[in-house]
Amino acid sequence: MSTAKPPARAASTRTVGRGRALPEEPPPRRPWWSGGGVKVVFGDSLNHYDKWDAPDVILSDGGYGVLGFDGDTAGHAQLPDWYAPHVAAWSRRAKPATTLWFWNSEIGWAAVHPVLERAGWRYVNANVWNKGKGHIAGNINTRTIRRFPVVSELCVQYVMQARIDGAPLKVWLRREWRRTGLPLKRANEACGVRDAAVRKYLDQGHLWYWPPVEMFRRLADYANAHGDPAGRPYFSADGEWPMSDAEWSATRAKFRCPHGVTNVWDRPALRGRQRLTTAAGKAIHLNQKPLDLMTRVIEASSDPGDVIWEPFGGLFTACVAAIETGRRAFGAERDACYFRHGVDRLRARAKQRRRARAQS
Ligand SMILES: C[S@@+](CC[C@H](N)C(=O)[O-])C[C@H]1O[C@@H](n2cnc3c(N)ncnc32)[C@H](O)[C@@H]1O
Repeated sequence: MSTAKPPARAASTRTVGRGRALPEEPPPRRPWWSGGGVKVVFGDSLNHYDKWDAPDVILSDGGYGVLGFDGDTAGHAQLPDWYAPHVAAWSRRAKPATTLWFWNSEIGWAAVHPVLERAGWRYVNANVWNKGKGHIAGNINTRTIRRFPVVSELCVQYVMQARIDGAPLKVWLRREWRRTGLPLKRANEACGVRDAAVRKYLDQGHLWYWPPVEMFRRLADYANAHGDPAGRPYFSADGEWPMSDAEWSATRAKFRCPHGVTNVWDRPALRGRQRLTTAAGKAIHLNQKPLDLMTRVIEASSDPGDVIWEPFGGLFTACVAAIETGRRAFGAERDACYFRHGVDRLRARAKQRRRARAQS
């Protein structure tokens, strides 16, 4: 028996996607399409971020480390490097309160989470898309796989950590109050509360609350009226004027939860007519996401007219949701075949919406 140590198994550098249904295509003659408030481009999103309007919401559905498409990695260990330049660009272009929805497997997300956190994205919540038992339908031999069958994906919510003068909001708020020279407890008087202002808005730990606009206004007005005149203006982002209500409001990411929705989304995988297929019935893209889930997160975190980014377009499900909900969107896809089918889908949706509007 040989005692020689086997060579360490190198991480695979394969990037050819598995199970591609349709052959590759030459690049499109026109590498972009726009309509219905959406603009999508053929090519690498890294080359386009700087040309897009700043995002209110980013919907990331990129590499999973499973060779899910050409260019995906063969394992989760390579995902941090795969995402790093995208995450850097998202942080550079984000607004103070942009929301990021990061789709992935559990291990894919776990691998990329530190990259996101380091780049200023604050973790909010992990949502589990439970596809249900129908997703495996008896096709799995647990004696062979030696684990519980996986029927879920994650859609993890992050928000850009708003900063003023380089400090996170909670640090900045307390710093501004300290600058006034007033005792902390006068913040309660400013807000007309017994102790909630100090306890919530000036707390430096996990009990910190974002002051609602009315409370921010009271803090800022009180500080500017009673604080040390030498330090004025207080609660100012530009050093000239205290922040306006609208400016303060824009430091908080939007979120509204539809009644009854929790962080577990029971919803079967795409079936039948929900999936885009060729005339012969073949799924065009194996990773197409449900339109209803994309619509859910867009509606929860943005208003009509807001800007959505879909950097890993596939069949542009988020852009379709943007058209249907009256948002503006920018997307990219670097596979010519998916781009063509995605554009056909967008064009059809934009046309339907135009017709529906004309009839109403
Ligand atoms: C997981 S799929 C997205 C599926 C999409 N959410 C849908 O519902 O159809 C990822 C897609 O991103 C594309 N992609 C990967 N890296 C890209 C990049 N840097 N720029 C543009 N597209 C990219 C891949 O070709 C693939 O089609």
